[in-house]
Amino acid sequence: MDATPNTASAKLTVGDKSWDLPVKHGTIGPDVMDISKLYGQTGMFTYDPGFTSTASCESQITYIDGDEGVLLYRGYPIEQLAENGDFLETCYLLLYGELPTAEQKADFDMSVTRHTMVHDQMNRFFTGFRRDAHPMAIMVACVGALSAFYHDSTDISDPQQRLIASIRMIAKMPTLAAMAYKYHIGQPFVYPKNDLDYSSNFLRMCFAVPCEDYKVSPVLSRALDKIFILHADHEQNASTSTVRLAGSSGANPFACIAAGVACLWGPAHGGANEAALKMLTEIGRPERIPEFVNRAKDKNDPFRLMGFGHRVYKNYDPRAKIMQQTCHEVLSELGIKDDPLLDVAVELERVALHDEYFIEKKLYPNIDFYSGITLKAMGFPTAMFTVLFALARTVGWIGQWKEMIEDPSQRIGRPRQLYTGAARRDYVAMAKRK
Ligand code: CMC
Repeated sequence: MDATPNTASAKLTVGDKSWDLPVKHGTIGPDVMDISKLYGQTGMFTYDPGFTSTASCESQITYIDGDEGVLLYRGYPIEQLAENGDFLETCYLLLYGELPTAEQKADFDMSVTRHTMVHDQMNRFFTGFRRDAHPMAIMVACVGALSAFYHDSTDISDPQQRLIASIRMIAKMPTLAAMAYKYHIGQPFVYPKNDLDYSSNFLRMCFAVPCEDYKVSPVLSRALDKIFILHADHEQNASTSTVRLAGSSGANPFACIAAGVACLWGPAHGGANEAALKMLTEIGRPERIPEFVNRAKDKNDPFRLMGFGHRVYKNYDPRAKIMQQTCHEVLSELGIKDDPLLDVAVELERVALHDEYFIEKKLYPNIDFYSGITLKAMGFPTAMFTVLFALARTVGWIGQWKEMIEDPSQRIGRPRQLYTGAARRDYVAMAKRK
């Protein structure tokens, strides 16, 4: 499934000189012009802030067609995986490239389950944080700190260590995420339970308390599992590119995933689910929607509709459709007949989808638009939303990191720049400065 050998080339002409650039074809999706030798041949760089037209790597993991609203993991449509599979099956698929047989799935589930506990010393690590710390701040620190606890899986040149590190991170993220939550609300940590599936175990670690029995709702557990599947990977987005760039220097996998968690936190990326719910709360009632839509369209107002728009999707985000359906399932399971926030969201979506500004700019709801309402109904505070995103995206980050490390042509990532600062000048002694 390597990129097809070049059968075409593109011509670059600058002044009276021309160069032929090889064109590479993927299995599906746009062709790419290979500019890797451009500087050597022409003495010029390309300029593409925000990487809107730059493919940073070759990958076989995830494919998005933003115009058609298509998302495939290893070729399988997200809708089919969310409907028929479970999260650990998706993890296996993303990591190994194929859906597991029953035996492979059982082995994989067992490996993940057996790695869910974290080193006991980590419990004390948590107590160094303020109780009001944002759980994402705790996650950035704790995921990075895993490399201080698991020295036997930090040698990236050893495939076995890479595998163990991968399994450890998929297994321990729910435990760390639940610990961050419990620490935040001042409740004792709940240890993982091996007879529960991945999502049920996470729900229990978050919501059980030692003084009472906790029964996991299968509907909520299935909904959460679906939410994890939807978030599992999304090709070369900001956090994944961060993980790849960090990994390209040879940094250990725990450090690389911590870098991904940090990048995900931003409101333009994973932090949008928290920001979207805050926005819906601020809007409060459907009558106030026009005011906020007008603000979003005003060039002099930095306000944007959170949970709307996407760099790649210029159509309905396929994940948002499944998320909307999951949202209804969760509310109905919890007996929530009227959720004012859902009313605002449904009406806001309707208004925006009929508004010239949003139509013209192809701004549609993204995955973060309905996820906040769903997670809030399940009992998660807003500060935990991006943590749940990080938990689910861990497998994508790891899969992409592994693919990069195992690529023999891998080199350290090193973008170039267009320098527009001062030209060379001589140092001026302080007494002579004006
Ligand atoms: N509300 C109002 N206007 C918007 C919005 C929005 N949510 N998103 C984009 N625009 C406008 C923007 O002002 C610009 O207008 P103009 O061409 O007149 O300057 C145009 O649409 C293109 O926007 P852009 O910022 O150049 O597009 P981008 O590809 O750089 O940004 C984005 C994509 C997702 C950061 C952006 O749409 C946004 O800020 N959305 C809100 C935050 C959000 O929901 N993020 C979650 C993304 S999905 C999950 C994830 O990836 O983590």
